[in-house]
Amino acid sequence: MNIEDYKDVFEPFERLIEIEICGEKRLVPENNSLLRCFQFLSLETISYGNFCWNGDCLNCRVWVKNGEREKAVVSCRTKARDQMKIVRISEEIILTKN
Ligand code: FES
Repeated sequence: MNIEDYKDVFEPFERLIEIEICGEKRLVPENNSLLRCFQFLSLETISYGNFCWNGDCLNCRVWVKNGEREKAVVSCRTKARDQMKIVRISEEIILTKN
């Protein structure tokens, strides 16, 4: 699979932003949902994963740290923000290492 064949699925972006996923810093496209960002990082596992992409299945949940608090969000409905810190991800989200 080639990211170029999939570029239409991403919202237009001009730069990459840095987010942290379970302690690992990764660069992802700005202006995209977290689930799209995960797809950007791990095209095959997320493209073929068990995801509805519309907020129904909850298989894409992640837990975001905000100050001292952790909050579960649905990653297909949550835009990635620069320096976002994700401390836990659903078992359905399998990310390959870069
Ligand atoms: S992919 Fe189903 S709720 Fe996000």
